[in-house]
Amino acid sequence: MSSESNALVLERFGELPRLLERPVPDARPGHTLVRMLAAQVGHLDLNIVDGRFGILPDLPAVPGTNGAGRVLASDTHPVGSLVRISGKGLGLRRDGCWRSHALVPDATAVPVPEGMDPALACGFATPAGTAWAAVHSVAAVRPRERVLVTGAAGAVGSLAVQVAAHAGAEVIGVVGRPAKLDRVPAAAKAVLAGELTAEAIGGPVDVVVDTVGGPVLKSALGLVRPRGRVALVGYTAGRELTVDLADFLLADVSLLPVNLMTRGREVAADVERMLAELTAGELELAVERHRPEQLADAARRLRTGAAVGLVVLDLS
Ligand SMILES: NC(=O)c1ccc[n+]([C@@H]2O[C@H](COP(=O)([O-])OP(=O)(O)OC[C@H]3O[C@@H](n4cnc5c(N)ncnc54)[C@H](OP(=O)(O)O)[C@@H]3O)[C@@H](O)[C@H]2O)c1
Repeated sequence: MSSESNALVLERFGELPRLLERPVPDARPGHTLVRMLAAQVGHLDLNIVDGRFGILPDLPAVPGTNGAGRVLASDTHPVGSLVRISGKGLGLRRDGCWRSHALVPDATAVPVPEGMDPALACGFATPAGTAWAAVHSVAAVRPRERVLVTGAAGAVGSLAVQVAAHAGAEVIGVVGRPAKLDRVPAAAKAVLAGELTAEAIGGPVDVVVDTVGGPVLKSALGLVRPRGRVALVGYTAGRELTVDLADFLLADVSLLPVNLMTRGREVAADVERMLAELTAGELELAVERHRPEQLADAARRLRTGAAVGLVVLDLS
């Protein structure tokens, strides 16, 4: 085995990690050594890099909460098998996936069917699990309901559109810029956020799945019928929402948080099926691949909303 390895090492919050050479970690009991092939660059990872999350690592640290690769050494997993890795504080309390070789607790590695794109395997928890949890566990979308999804060309949004459509809903997909209108999955009617009115979408909706937050959430709230639900997934466009409580009571719309950290287990079987459907091409998810040297580009595209779909580091 080569003794060379590299890792993106976060030395100061607010600055991007630097690509540094490191020795390959020594195998040890209870741990699996993985040659990483892909690692997600997600908003959570960037919030950690920025020091803007409730749980933060001691520095220096290797970020990356979700990844996939091949087993090099393990007492638990067959050598050579494809696994996805996440959980148990990976990328938060312990070194994560933004490295060529990761020594991780056995329980963080889960076998993945041979032939699956490692980039898609990284998307197990999010976007796949998050989209499923938002549509089914939290919003409980029913057939023939009208569902509005914001950030509908984004990673979670584009899958939420398809999951809601498969549940029998009529789906409206909202995007922030004209260039993304044709990146909304065909299952939805695509609408620009700046042109979002009740008339433009044919009247009130039963459900909103919001991946954007800020002012987009505020305008979407006004489009929901009384007793409707809003599943709040993210806050890319702003972390704050001010609510006039009298209006809130009058509107009678439930604002419901989607927290995948508390819902991961309950959606796992459904997400396994989603990944199989993604691999078979029955669900679609755009993937942007960047080399580790291009982390700055990947981060910029995600932070500005220019990215379309899942953003991953190609570590192969
Ligand atoms: N609650 C949970 O458990 C959970 C789990 C996973 C992810 N999340 C959160 O869900 C959100 C969406 O995740 P994602 O992976 O789908 O992200 P994404 O692919 O980047 O999609 C987010 C969308 O937000 C919109 N946006 C508006 N203003 C933006 C800005 N200033 N910067 C960046 N994007 C902006 C963009 O769409 P337009 O250009 O069309 O507006 C973008 O496509 C993130 O906040 C993430 O942290 C939450």
